[in-house]
Amino acid sequence: MTLRPGVAWVIGGGSGIGAAVAILLAQRGWTVAISGRREDKLNSVANGQSSIRPYPLDVTDSVAIAENMNQVVAELGRIDLFIFGAAAWQPMKVGNYDFEQFHRVVDTNYLGFVRMLAPLVTQMERQGGGHLAAIASVAGYFGLPRSAAYSSTKAGMINLLETMRAELAPKNIVVRMIAPGFVKSELTEKNDFPMPFLLETDDAARRIVDGLTQSDRFEIAFPRRMVWLMKTIRWLPYGAFFRLTGRMLPRDNP
Ligand SMILES: NC(=O)c1ccc[n+]([C@@H]2O[C@H](COP(=O)([O-])OP(=O)(O)OC[C@H]3O[C@@H](n4cnc5c(N)ncnc54)[C@H](OP(=O)(O)O)[C@@H]3O)[C@@H](O)[C@H]2O)c1
Repeated sequence: MTLRPGVAWVIGGGSGIGAAVAILLAQRGWTVAISGRREDKLNSVANGQSSIRPYPLDVTDSVAIAENMNQVVAELGRIDLFIFGAAAWQPMKVGNYDFEQFHRVVDTNYLGFVRMLAPLVTQMERQGGGHLAAIASVAGYFGLPRSAAYSSTKAGMINLLETMRAELAPKNIVVRMIAPGFVKSELTEKNDFPMPFLLETDDAARRIVDGLTQSDRFEIAFPRRMVWLMKTIRWLPYGAFFRLTGRMLPRDNP
């Protein structure tokens, strides 16, 4: 199956992976709407090209989502490919379950996506179908130490996408789950721990765009070594699993 160029909408398209995906899609003939909160970032990605259109949006604002959805459809006609890539990543101290920090991460990464679903699915049904993708993470494969809020939002997102894949298939809406390993971006530059198999942003974008357009498979996960490492850990019996994840804790902050 090949997905032909049409109209894509990338949430989180002002920086990092989302920006690289938007630029690559435009190079391959797509018209791309990009959204995020920082208008200057969106404008610099669009760089005056008519194939990339900025639509500033905060995914924690339901009213703005409805207005944006209407505006994108009114101006671009339809949404063939939707990619949700907005995320907040807050390095948290081990054992810190501060509600405000959790709330910000959940409200953006998980509820931000959920807020967009009803109007998006309505639009895709109206136009006869579409591809609906979200960037989760290999960090969602299991409960990752030092990553309580972020990892659990990505796990929730994978679970939700699995439900949606089955439920929306009869409506001709193809649900896709993207699970990158570590990629260089604003998000990971805060990290003070080793990031194995770290990828360049453009490399990640190429894998995502190829995965989305050259097949209709559910899971687009990379790099392979990181994916197999994380999946193997997930399938370990809990005794071995917790011995291993316990070793991921920093020595000075157990
Ligand atoms: N980098 C990695 O190693 C890695 C690995 C696995 C998965 N991912 C996922 O890949 C996606 C892209 O991340 P990235 O690494 O490219 O980092 P990034 O450059 O920080 O991208 C995150 C994007 O989310 C947008 N965003 C944050 N809060 C938002 C809000 N309330 N409303 C609208 N947009 C919002 C940001 O734009 P504004 O600040 O302008 O709103 C930014 O463009 C994320 O879902 C991330 O979880 C990344």
